[in-house]
Amino acid sequence: PADLHAVRGEILHFLADPASHGEAAIEHFADGLLLIRDGHVAETGPAGELLARLPADVPVTDYRGKLILPGFVDTHIHYAQTDIIASHGEQLLAWLEKYTFPAEARFADPEHARAVAEFFCDELLRNGTTTALAFATVHATSVDALFEAALKRRMRMITGKVMMDRHCPDFLRDTAAGGYAESQALIERWHGRERLQYAVTPRFAATSTPEQMRLAGRLYAEHPGLYLQSHVAENRGEVAWVAKLYPEARSYLDVYDRFGQLGMRSVYAHCIWLDDTDRRRMADTGAAVSFCPTSNLFLGSGLFDFGRARELGLRVGIGTDVGAGTSFSMLQTLNEAYKVLQLGGQKLSAASAFHLATLGGAHSLYLDERIGNFLPGKEADFVVLDPAATPLLARRMQGAQTLDERLFVLMMLGDDRSIAATHVLGRVAWQRPG
Ligand code: GUN
Ligand code: FE
Repeated sequence: PADLHAVRGEILHFLADPASHGEAAIEHFADGLLLIRDGHVAETGPAGELLARLPADVPVTDYRGKLILPGFVDTHIHYAQTDIIASHGEQLLAWLEKYTFPAEARFADPEHARAVAEFFCDELLRNGTTTALAFATVHATSVDALFEAALKRRMRMITGKVMMDRHCPDFLRDTAAGGYAESQALIERWHGRERLQYAVTPRFAATSTPEQMRLAGRLYAEHPGLYLQSHVAENRGEVAWVAKLYPEARSYLDVYDRFGQLGMRSVYAHCIWLDDTDRRRMADTGAAVSFCPTSNLFLGSGLFDFGRARELGLRVGIGTDVGAGTSFSMLQTLNEAYKVLQLGGQKLSAASAFHLATLGGAHSLYLDERIGNFLPGKEADFVVLDPAATPLLARRMQGAQTLDERLFVLMMLGDDRSIAATHVLGRVAWQRPG
């Protein structure tokens, strides 16, 4: 018999992008019911109406007074940088040398990798994030550790072994052929198992030889449904360095293009210092941007031009980029996204922000047929937000009249404390104690 259960509360999800579809993009039930069958959405609608025609014995979890949203999608994060979040004083290239590489070296130890992966997955769930595209380290065992931790929690996780064969410490360096073979073995072991998918992961153009770049592109082309993740045009010093390393390329993005690394399910973190030729090329190939506001501010990298990306039709998701990013919280990441747009003279509406964190993120990863909203058949990943989580949030919420105002207050003042529960495939995966 089917496993049928429901949750009741205020329900909000997106049917489309509110920037292009306005009010019609948003579906909202002040007193709603989300009916779940075998871990997938069966139906959603007004609670009274649904309860009247459901069998009386369907278990209903009562979340009235709380807000139910689709689980958050973090499109760029480094699990191995969990322990160096909030490291002081450097911009990108010095930050990598001083903090990141030493921290990633510790993942040669599978025990360490396992312990961090466990903490990392729990921390994602504690923040309402149910799907992530994450960097591991150069060590194949670091990928095993993260996939195992995600599998245990039934989370949607996409990750891959970092490929880097130059301009990094010896103890973190692979080789073009070795990185290819190890990635290949990981793909065979993990890609497509349950909710796990593999991402070919050349760290960035500066730490791979042209030969490794060529092989990364080949791997991405060889296996249907694979992801490719990297960094591009984050920091001005980095952009200048890449221009020297690849003098034949028109731009930093063009380096990836020349090696066949742009396409569907390729995701590039940052994309700050692009021109319109680059942006058009990303849009044309179906590549996606991961906008990482807390990281871009923390490392002093620059301001992502969200408005221009949208005008040119790019797929954009949002990423925490922990450990250069300063929070696992998607709410805090939306808060900083708003401020980045303000500094660029642009406005991020609350609706657009929450769309980015849910359906927009899913769309950027080509996962919007499976997750991102509550249409029937979708995987029932959701987050339960408490609008009275803290005294200030509760107080400020009272003065918020419209749904838009309430969502805006929630993303500005909310954080991990506002997450009451996180459900994965219908079931409670994390719940606030007490
Ligand atoms: N570019 C290359 N590697 C990294 C990394 O680990 N973090 C960030 N923010 N940018 C990078
Ligand atoms: Fe990153």
